[in-house]
Amino acid sequence: MRNEDGAPVRLEDYRQTDFAIRHVDMTIRLFEGHADITTRMDLSRRDGADVTAPLMLDGDELVLTGLSLGDEPLDAARFDAGPDGLTIRDLPATGEFRLTIGTRVVPETNTKLMGLYRSNGIWCTQCEAEGFRRITYFLDRPDVLATYRVRLEADRNAAPVLLANGNPVEGGPLPGASEGGDPADALRHFAVWDDPFPKPSYLFAIVAGRLDSLHNSYTTASGRDVSLTIYTEPGLAERAGYAMDALKRSMRWDERRFGREYDLDVFNIVAISDFNMGAMENKGLNVFNHKYVLLDPDTATDADYAGVETVIAHEYFHNWTGNRITCRDWFQLCLKEGLTVYRDQEFSSDERSRPVKRIASVHGLKANQFPEDQGPLQHPVRPVAYREINNFYTATIYDKGAELVRMIATILGQDAFRKGMDLYFERHDGDAATVEDFIACFEDASGADLTQFFLWYRQAGTPQLEVRQIFDETSGRLTLELRQSLQAGAAGTGTLPMHIPVRFGLVGRNGGDLAPALHSADTRVEADVIHLTQEQATIVFEGLDERPYLSILRDFSAPVQLAYKESSQDRLALARLDPNPFGRWRALTDMVGDALAAAVRSGGAGTPDERMLDAMVEAAQDEALEPALRAQMASLPGEAEITRLVADNVDTDRVHDVRVEMLAALGHRGKAAFERLRAALDTQEAFSPSADSAGRRALRNTLLAPLSAALGTSELAQEAFAASRNMSDRLAALTVLAHQFPEDAATRQALAAFYDRFEEDPLVLDKWFMLQASAPHAGTLARVEALVAHPKFRLANPNRARAVLAGVAGLNPYVFHQADGAGYRWMAGMLAELDALNPQTAARMATAFRSWRSMEPGRRAAAQEALRQLQARPGLSRDLKDILDRTLA
Ligand code: TRP
Ligand code: ZN
Repeated sequence: MRNEDGAPVRLEDYRQTDFAIRHVDMTIRLFEGHADITTRMDLSRRDGADVTAPLMLDGDELVLTGLSLGDEPLDAARFDAGPDGLTIRDLPATGEFRLTIGTRVVPETNTKLMGLYRSNGIWCTQCEAEGFRRITYFLDRPDVLATYRVRLEADRNAAPVLLANGNPVEGGPLPGASEGGDPADALRHFAVWDDPFPKPSYLFAIVAGRLDSLHNSYTTASGRDVSLTIYTEPGLAERAGYAMDALKRSMRWDERRFGREYDLDVFNIVAISDFNMGAMENKGLNVFNHKYVLLDPDTATDADYAGVETVIAHEYFHNWTGNRITCRDWFQLCLKEGLTVYRDQEFSSDERSRPVKRIASVHGLKANQFPEDQGPLQHPVRPVAYREINNFYTATIYDKGAELVRMIATILGQDAFRKGMDLYFERHDGDAATVEDFIACFEDASGADLTQFFLWYRQAGTPQLEVRQIFDETSGRLTLELRQSLQAGAAGTGTLPMHIPVRFGLVGRNGGDLAPALHSADTRVEADVIHLTQEQATIVFEGLDERPYLSILRDFSAPVQLAYKESSQDRLALARLDPNPFGRWRALTDMVGDALAAAVRSGGAGTPDERMLDAMVEAAQDEALEPALRAQMASLPGEAEITRLVADNVDTDRVHDVRVEMLAALGHRGKAAFERLRAALDTQEAFSPSADSAGRRALRNTLLAPLSAALGTSELAQEAFAASRNMSDRLAALTVLAHQFPEDAATRQALAAFYDRFEEDPLVLDKWFMLQASAPHAGTLARVEALVAHPKFRLANPNRARAVLAGVAGLNPYVFHQADGAGYRWMAGMLAELDALNPQTAARMATAFRSWRSMEPGRRAAAQEALRQLQARPGLSRDLKDILDRTLA
């Protein structure tokens, strides 16, 4: 039950419900303009529960149309019904009883996209986290598990397809008047679905509408046949082929890697245009933002292909980590999300390239989670209080949560990790579990004590890891000193030393890992992992002829801020020599990031270190590395990333200038090599979405930006745009045009040509909107005003709203943080409008303000003013208010 407005829900207040719901039987009748829902549930008091306690069901904007106990309508004196809840008194003290509840909702006006709503005419539902209570009164919390049987009725023409969780049982036309039925039912039909697996209400789903489909089948390891179908809006099913392939590969991978098989006869996916997040793992009926299903080479980039593969896998993997084993309460959200992100990352690593995937994940973690962990929205991976649970689907829960699982695997080793996972599946199948339950499985399977490790779930913030090395030539000894520290932040959680697994290597002067003898250590060192458990540790190696290069925190073995004052020589050497590819990337990007941040702080780029630029050029050409990795090593961080690296007193105009200068310097330095590479990579091969092909395109397209910056003209990008035969190449060229040459006539023409070609394709049009909103130049805010007035702009569509709002506030610090505060004011105005339609998406977009305190004083004051004005508006949603209150606190 939700607390009174303003009062947070607290973990320490958790207690079981007095009542259990064993089975739910629903009939949902869909009409134009409304839906009637009849929910019959079999309840009983739990053992030991208060026999006089009333039943208090959750509701949200509901209208009660009927209520019976057993076969009798309930006397009005025994219940209180309101939009937010239904309380029933004097229910039987013992035994099972049946309640039947009628509700009526209006899907057509549901712009929050939570509960039952319509997207382009299609009826669909979103129930996580608290959407089921917008369909019927219920104990809408994840520890109430029931089996569901659902009957859907709708017009045959408006909704030929009727889907729900579980397996299909029966269906057909409703009897019309001639068959003795209701004459109004003549054109209607029904379907019944049965889900035998007990589940929490947040996994409930139905979909109904005119849908096309792509069908396939899968035989599980034990020989069971599963029917697979992906449903799309009419005419788009052929774009679901790659998603279907990714689904089948996910199913196979989960069998091989984790021994997990699928458990129903059918697995259905529906692609929806209006969707708040990426996708949703409803049992047997995953509902997706169509962005993560629909692809073809002409409309989707390689990044889109990778995104589809990841999200398809993620939702499929939830069937075990989330559905078969769910969360006891929403404080345990990382139990399913962090673990499932870890699983989808491992899948992508196995299907594509492990180092490239790891670099991408670490890059994402630093861009999204680090700022959250170091700002006003900080919270531990396992929070202890929330005002609005929608606001806790965060990078900390998902991505840092995944890092914690990864650290458990590093600490225990792969074999013991797998044993722990096996025990978790065996012990908790069918449960609503806690993080403690999960950790206990690894302790019991391995004998390890993870008490200290558990601090990672409780303590918010990014620990700092300081590293020093001292080499003594005469003794041939290398001393490593490690020290950890954690600053108290907004969450007010502890700062105790944690268990930090530090993977490392000692690289010889000519390359290759050295394996010197350990002389002494005051902490555990196992093969290539130092277990830092105290505040500091000293480790001494001996028998070294020369000082090796220290490759520290390999594969980013812990989510820490590395403070290591290694010399430029060491970084350059590691960038070339480290046998660990992640280590090569880490050394070079740290060097580039530090150089950019220093230039911003000192007020000008000066002359960038030529050896550093040469190392980037060399990496781009290094045939020993896969092209995708070469692209990662040769690209400059974006302005948002540099803004984060500068960290305080930021002037985003300087960030912009410094980056422009560095990009041109890189282009000059690498001109001949980059041109050669671009020509060599320009094969005429047919498009393949494979990671290898995508990597070659990524490298070729990465070089376009520095080359164009060095040339100072848009010619190269114009040629690339004209020659492009797939969306990756086309968008890369158009981005260079719009971001580097905004005033060129050629840019205007290219943008217009792109629009004309893709006007009817919403996913491509999102790219067109975002590309312009993220252009770092003075005219952007005026352009953005025109974009939101464009006939194709629709604030109620989350993808479209995100394209423009996050295009400015997330991807374009030059404009969002512009010194006169106009960017902040524009964003605040948009948030107010969006909040009235879709609070969840408004609140998510508002998190762009989280780093306002890291700006220089003028911008800081302007941001604070815009935030305060927004906060003072009457009628804000709980979602947006929660974010604003915490951001300003
Ligand atoms: N559980 C979903 C996932 O991570 C995400 C999700 C949570 C969601 N809340 C949502 C999706 C609200 C849509 C709307 O896979
Ligand atoms: Zn998830």
